[in-house]
Amino acid sequence: ADFETLLTETRGNVGLITLNRPKALNALNSTVMRELSEALKAFDSDPSIGAVVLAGSEKAFAAGADIKEMQAVDFVDAFVGDFLGGWEAVAATRKPIVAAVSGYALGGGCELAMMCDFIIASETAKFGQPEITLGVIPGMGGSQRLARAVGKAKAMDLVLTGRMMDAAEAERAGLVARIVAPERLLDEALEAAAKIASFPRAAVLMAKEAVNRADEVTLAEGLRLERRLFQSLFATQDQKEGMSAFVEKRKPSFTNR
Ligand code: HXC
Repeated sequence: ADFETLLTETRGNVGLITLNRPKALNALNSTVMRELSEALKAFDSDPSIGAVVLAGSEKAFAAGADIKEMQAVDFVDAFVGDFLGGWEAVAATRKPIVAAVSGYALGGGCELAMMCDFIIASETAKFGQPEITLGVIPGMGGSQRLARAVGKAKAMDLVLTGRMMDAAEAERAGLVARIVAPERLLDEALEAAAKIASFPRAAVLMAKEAVNRADEVTLAEGLRLERRLFQSLFATQDQKEGMSAFVEKRKPSFTNR
């Protein structure tokens, strides 16, 4: 499909989506929301794809929701139209999404990165929730996902002061999984996604589902879900193949069955 605000391509078994509104530092307007949902759905339902990378530009992953589009929205528009509600499609994606973040990931941009399954950041990355400076608060999950990712102290600091944190601080705080040099960012993310895509599909989807449940349910419920999912994987051919290959000291040949 041809998109106005995104570039999409496949690299082997990886789907690559690049936000492409360079003049607005990839500000997230309703077109981006609609097109990104569509692109993710297409990769999610494409059997050849095992994982997705979501990237921005070198200067900005995304500098937030589009302030020019939001400026005139009133309460009734926002509430009745469920403003920003369409972003739920990102977290609803079942295949893993790796965010490759370079430059600004602010407001909705930080929130979009947090909807992905993990963040690989360039040394240049800057994260923040500056909504307070505009008279609003995070509206795409920032108050919830940031607090879960970095804890209450730092989440409050960022959400209440609107300050930015650099990649090193974000990694120390647990927001970022890896930091790499800017020129390595895309390859590092693509290699991580290719690795994920090489593993049995059912196990990958269950692993993502299980880890995500940790944010939602009690420890006892989460452990029960994990054990049931774990047990169910013994019904797959790939479990037999993976374990046989180890015992026979050879490389596994997975079939996603
Ligand atoms: C619309 C944006 C934008 C945004 C940048 N631009 N961010 N347009 N919405 N969020 C546009 C600018 O208007 C400008 O276009 C162009 O991108 C380049 O931006 P500059 O400001 O000239 O670049 P620079 O001086 O390098 O500064 C970069 C920046 C700054 C520090 C990232 O752009 C900035 O502070 N942006 C806003 C960050 C922000 O507040 N994000 C949170 C948004 S609220 P023109 O054509 O004007 O030159 C949000 C809410 C989430 O995300 C949900 C809850 C409601």
